[in-house]
Amino acid sequence: MAKKKIIVVDDFNEIRELVAFILEASFSCETVQFSSGNKAIAELKKNPFYDLIISDWNMPDGNGIEIFKFLKDQKIQIPMAFLTGEEIDQNETLSGQVNVEVKFIPKPFSNTQIISTVESLLAVPSPTTLQSAPHTDATTQSQVEYIPVRLQLLGYIKEITTPLYIKINNEKYIRLTQDESSFTEETLKKYQAKNVTSLYIQSQAAEEFITEYKKRTLATKIWNEIDEMPASQFIKLNTELLRDLSNKLGWSESLIGLAADNLTKALQIVSTHPKLSHVLRQFQKIEHFGFAEHSSLLVMLTCGLAFQLEIADEPTLRKLTFASLLHDMQLTDDEFENQNKIVKSIHSGNYFESRDLKSVLAHPAKAAELCRHWDFCPGVVDTIIFQHHETPDGQGFPTGKKSSELHSLSCLFIVAEDFANYFAESFGNIDMAYFLKSRADIYADREFNVILKALGESFKAQIQTAS
Ligand SMILES: [Fe+2]
Ligand SMILES: [Fe+2]
Repeated sequence: MAKKKIIVVDDFNEIRELVAFILEASFSCETVQFSSGNKAIAELKKNPFYDLIISDWNMPDGNGIEIFKFLKDQKIQIPMAFLTGEEIDQNETLSGQVNVEVKFIPKPFSNTQIISTVESLLAVPSPTTLQSAPHTDATTQSQVEYIPVRLQLLGYIKEITTPLYIKINNEKYIRLTQDESSFTEETLKKYQAKNVTSLYIQSQAAEEFITEYKKRTLATKIWNEIDEMPASQFIKLNTELLRDLSNKLGWSESLIGLAADNLTKALQIVSTHPKLSHVLRQFQKIEHFGFAEHSSLLVMLTCGLAFQLEIADEPTLRKLTFASLLHDMQLTDDEFENQNKIVKSIHSGNYFESRDLKSVLAHPAKAAELCRHWDFCPGVVDTIIFQHHETPDGQGFPTGKKSSELHSLSCLFIVAEDFANYFAESFGNIDMAYFLKSRADIYADREFNVILKALGESFKAQIQTAS
């Protein structure tokens, strides 16, 4: 059956998008949106071949009734549904000979109301995913918190029975799946095509989600199916999920279990000693370096450096992996984005006043404290994390320790993080010779110098191609 073509008219972008979304998720249809009645009429003059029009009643530039009158005058038979916020005397407004079938949907509307109205006007049942969620799901829910889960991640685990929601705005989330139904490959593709990056779970369903997610990610199937790079991609997504869950829920037993699992898997990957230049090429494809990209790049960099320095025994890799994935865990996305600016201002002695300053200053100690309570987290990880913003000249924080007072793995971590930030800032177009030269004075002390040299060594091939 051919796709139905539906016009959606509303001067409020948000409501228009919401209606179009509900329609496309529920029917085999294509929607065309207009922000005013006059724009919709202009389109209908050119092309009257639509199956349905859903329009707001009151709009500044040509309201709903004008579309109705146009259809009536031109004898165009397209059924209409009006979204109305007020009581309307239908007999009066739609008086005269009516060749247009009309229904009214009162605002605020629920998904169900939209779906059932469209079903009756088009005389087709809704075949697909957007089930009739309770009315409250489409309206304000200030009490309920939602936690994002990357679509990409859902793609890896494929089926999840915890109810998933889509975010319309900060207050509006719509439920996509019923408890018992699963998230299918088809649903996934649909949202990918719509450029949706995350779906959401409700915070009260988080424990259930973690249990289910753990079961699925622990299944070695996933890990066997994907090779080295998608696996590090998966770790990246996992890391982000852990951070988002823990920000909302704190560290529950099951979440700690999930963290441990993620860390073990990350360790398995770095143990295969992926080549740094190869790793970097993969990371060059990343357009935006957020918290998760940064953390997973650091896993590769710190462990790569350990291999180069010939200290890559299992316990050391474990420490570096754990420190990399956990060190910025206590920052939100906004705080993470501001972190570098704030850190630079701290080093220059000119505090960059920002609402995130306090969190940035506190995050090394907070994250260090967190992993001190985790049995699976090896000692020294807390030290590396605590010291990750120190610098050789003693201008860092929280304690302003100098190179000789820092743990050797902290020194390694600091150099790796400096390089990771340079990598992100230069959008992957790295000039290794420049980096080494510009850091030679900063890392002149022996502890640091050895590490900087090792970094240079591991990129030798790249330097040669650059020059
Ligand atoms: Fe960091
Ligand atoms: Fe940090």
